[in-house]
Amino acid sequence: MNESTWQVHNPDGPMRVIVTKALPGERWLEILIEAGCRVEVCRSENVLGKDEIEAVVGDRCDGGIGQLTEPWGPRLFEALARAGGKAYSNYAVGYNNVDLEAATKHRIPVGNTPGVLTETTAELAVALTFAAARRVVEGDRFMRGGRFSGWLPSLFLGELLWRKTLGIVGAGRIGTAYARMMAEGHKMDVVYYDLRANRELEHSVASYGHFLEAGGRRPLTCRRADSLEDLLREADVVSLHTVLDAATRHLIDRRRLALMKENAVLVNSSRGPLIDENALVEHCRRNPSFRAALDVFEDEPDMAPGLADLPNVVVVPHIGSATRWTREAMAVLAAFNVAGMLQGLPVWGRSDMTPFLGPSPPKASPSVVNAEPLALPSFEM
Ligand code: DGY
Repeated sequence: MNESTWQVHNPDGPMRVIVTKALPGERWLEILIEAGCRVEVCRSENVLGKDEIEAVVGDRCDGGIGQLTEPWGPRLFEALARAGGKAYSNYAVGYNNVDLEAATKHRIPVGNTPGVLTETTAELAVALTFAAARRVVEGDRFMRGGRFSGWLPSLFLGELLWRKTLGIVGAGRIGTAYARMMAEGHKMDVVYYDLRANRELEHSVASYGHFLEAGGRRPLTCRRADSLEDLLREADVVSLHTVLDAATRHLIDRRRLALMKENAVLVNSSRGPLIDENALVEHCRRNPSFRAALDVFEDEPDMAPGLADLPNVVVVPHIGSATRWTREAMAVLAAFNVAGMLQGLPVWGRSDMTPFLGPSPPKASPSVVNAEPLALPSFEM
């Protein structure tokens, strides 16, 4: 049943594209309209379920831009393919809500929006780190509750992170940007856990260390951990930046939480199910000087029972990428993904997405995650 209001733009466009949420900015809409699309945008803020999306796809739909909150699995890709669909883009860099196998089976390319969330999400992770370490939210509540009766030597003592050790789980783009902000800004040594060595991160920390040394200060270290356990034991701050898949679900569980320092800070701005949230509640309850800062939750939008009552946990509503610039840029990339696929353009295949934000965007789809199995052509300069 279709209960939401859908707004139609360019009603006579020969190709029909559905967009399951209103997106920030205007450029994305222009891109789709210039590509000849009639664009139908859902104006409701409710999370759309399979039934409603399938009904909107109907018997004629060329493409769609969907949200990370929607289950783009076999049923929706089958419906989209049956309706003549040839393009889908997630409005997100992460695509754990998308069944890639199903999309590929129906020969539907799946786009995502990498590159434009990196610094924005890393900045939020930095904000969460300090909010937790320095008890910002507790202090805010205390002030608003009218309980501040004057400076005290031991009011809200937190943790100094300067020159401590930072643990990065998943040293991809966002993990690397966050590590550099924390290493360069707060002179933290870095230990990272990743299936691949990240030489770029190692070199950048080392060269920043040389700069410090040249000024007579102690350099920094950056090393790849032998195991996640090794990192958890050593780090004062552990920040999660890995993808969510079957292997990383509950990566941080009761046993691994117990390995962490008693006063460590755990930050998650990636995906909620990386942490066993019930185990985290129990751990934070038992260890009042342990702190957690979460942008994402195991069962969004819900929180595990007891999480919201814990003073040593900071929670924000999945706003890692929520800056105007990033959200508008994500919309532009998602629109170029769909427009490019519908026009049969090649796939950009490079990590720098800025050309798509400039005045002469490449004639390509910025990022198609199943380009390889679909044997889509790559962009040639
Ligand atoms: C993404 O793009 O995957 C983010 O989680 C959205 O903020």
